[in-house]
Amino acid sequence: MANNREKLLEIKDLKQYFKVGGGNVVKAIDDITFDIYKGETFGLVGESGSGKSTTGRTIIRLYDATAGEVLFNGENVHGKKSKAELKKFNRKMQMIFQDPYASLNPRMTVADIIAEGIDIHGLAKSREDRMKRVYELLETVGLNREHANRYPHEFSGGQRQRIGIARALAVEPEFIIADEPISALDVSIQAQVVNLLKRLQNEKGLTYLFIAHDLSMVKYISDRIGVMYHGKIVELAESEELYANPIHPYTKSLLSAIPLPDPDYERNRKRIVYDPKQHDYANEEPKMREIRPGHFVLCSEAEYKKYKELYQ
Ligand SMILES: Nc1ncnc2c1ncn2[C@@H]1O[C@H](COP(=O)(O)OP(=O)(O)OP(=O)(O)O)[C@@H](O)[C@H]1O
Ligand SMILES: [Mg+2]
Repeated sequence: MANNREKLLEIKDLKQYFKVGGGNVVKAIDDITFDIYKGETFGLVGESGSGKSTTGRTIIRLYDATAGEVLFNGENVHGKKSKAELKKFNRKMQMIFQDPYASLNPRMTVADIIAEGIDIHGLAKSREDRMKRVYELLETVGLNREHANRYPHEFSGGQRQRIGIARALAVEPEFIIADEPISALDVSIQAQVVNLLKRLQNEKGLTYLFIAHDLSMVKYISDRIGVMYHGKIVELAESEELYANPIHPYTKSLLSAIPLPDPDYERNRKRIVYDPKQHDYANEEPKMREIRPGHFVLCSEAEYKKYKELYQ
């Protein structure tokens, strides 16, 4: 649990619309607002295409935002920036990807992959210092210095993800976006990588945005969770609270899809199917409203009253 409530990121009314063929527009992010506190892990879950990756990429400014803003330590990330300012943000915010193989250059040695950021930001005083940092990073992520001169294809999926993590750590970031970092890994390896991320967070005071499909792992790693549906955050609460008291029908449907290793539970488990038509938003745009302390749900005024009665 993050032990302070200092905001590292403030995402305000963020929109990301993509123009696609035939004059159509995909509203990949459709007006989302949330904060990420220093030292916490904020989990973002939702089905495929709900806008999770686009949220991460827009925050880190791989895309310009269509509207809204992202503040990092109170400073606007988007908008016109000098080269020096951009470089500063690039160093403070790093990303870890789902497919470590696709994101590691196959023709570069592990040492050069890890040291890329060190070189760009001029963090090493000498060649010796550069290698010393690479060796330390390899050890930090559970690899060793013998791995430095090898190439990505010589490693297993879990090891490659460790290389991706070492590369992200090399520039000493404050904030890491992990976009489904374990989805491509064997189940037996997933927990190891999650535990590594947790340990690094404790040691270095890192803040994470952790994007996931897998609701069981996201619960384990996240302090708070935002549930995305069609470009909107429909529910946001502390992890325990969200799982114990889901309110939005979409969250309930997501949770009902998680199998548990309990035969009695499984025999009676009913999948809840979410039907967005159940909301009447014809005359009123839904808003994020607080139903229980720190527990927000996207709803209309009428739904708010109903939820308050049912869940308060
Ligand atoms: N560069 C782009 N151009 C056009 N449309 C895009 C682009 N990137 C994403 N989209 C669309 O935006 C929506 C959200 O995509 P996004 O990749 O953010 O979803 P996601 O939640 O990360 O899904 P997944 O779980 O499959 O990774 C989808 O409809 C997707 O097709
Ligand atoms: Mg994605």
